[in-house]
This record gives sequence, C-alpha cells and structure tokens, in this order.
Amino acid sequence: MTNNRTFTMIKPDAIAQGNTGAIIQKITNSGFKIVALKLTKLSPEKAAEFYAIHKDKKFFQELIDFMISGPIIAAILEKKNAVEDFRALIGATVDPAEGTIRNLYATSISNNAIHGSDSDENAVIESTFHFNENEIIQY
Ligand code: GTP
Ligand code: MG
Repeated sequence: MTNNRTFTMIKPDAIAQGNTGAIIQKITNSGFKIVALKLTKLSPEKAAEFYAIHKDKKFFQELIDFMISGPIIAAILEKKNAVEDFRALIGATVDPAEGTIRNLYATSISNNAIHGSDSDENAVIESTFHFNENEIIQY
C-alpha cells in the first residue's frame, strides 16, 4: 500500500467560509479517490497530539486554538504517488503556487484551509489517528 494513500483535513477556516464543496471537487477532479471521510471536531488534546511535532514552536498554541475553532473534515485519499501529488495540489505552507488549494482558499499562514501528510509513514499514522480499518472503503 506504500505510496498510494495520503491523509487530509479540511481545516475549520475552509468549512466556515463555505469552501468545502469546491475543495472536495478539486481533490476528486485531480484523480484522488476518497476511501474514508468524516466531519468531526478535534478536542484540544487530540489537536495537540496530532501536531505534537510543533509543540516547541512559538505558533503552537495559535495552531491548536485554530484547529479546535470549528469542525474539520478528515479523509483518506488514494492515488498513485498520493503524498507527493497531494502536497503539490494543496501548495506550500508559505507562498503556495497559483491555482493550488491554499493559493485559492488560505487567508493566512495559520488559516491555510487544508492539511496534507508529508510522508507515507505519517500518512499511515495520521489515518490511524482518525479512522478504524472498518471505516476505510475497499472499492
Ligand atoms: P500541515 O499540512 O497542516 O501539516 O501544514 P504544513 O505541513 O504545510 O506546515 P507545517 O507542518 O510546518 O505546519 C503545520 C501548520 O501550522 C500549518 O499548516 C499552519 O496552519 C501552521 N503554521 C505553520 N507555520 C506557522 C507560522 O509561522 N505561524 C502560524 N501562526 N502558524 C503556522
Ligand atoms: Mg505538516
């Protein structure tokens, strides 16, 4: 399964601004198949655990406050070369390229509309964090 799955979250800002449908359409139009999806809300503890790698950064509390400010949509996506292709689709953290999801829908470096796993290993860890095996669809 290596190389063909990534994990994403549509972040609270994008949901609050009504961009959910457009973002999902862009994801599926780009060849990603949704194999799991849920609307949920992160607890402060879950958000801190998810972003534990950033716990010593000065923006950590701001990041947690933002991620718990409203619902998120968590999803597992399948495509060949999923992690790399999805990072290209969402755009960089700073100065996302023209036409990327963050270029279209981010309003700041913090409120940047969407998350994408940064490695195959993290895609598995993050997917397991949000979904049980029986919530993942086999087409
Ligand atoms: P994710 O896909 O959400 O993990 O984003 P990323 O991989 O592009 O960035 P990174 O993992 O470095 O940072 C995680 C999240 O922290 C970002 O998506 C931003 O929401 C937020 N963030 C990163 N850098 C900054 C910063 O300098 N200031 C603030 N306020 N937030 C930041
Ligand atoms: Mg990251």
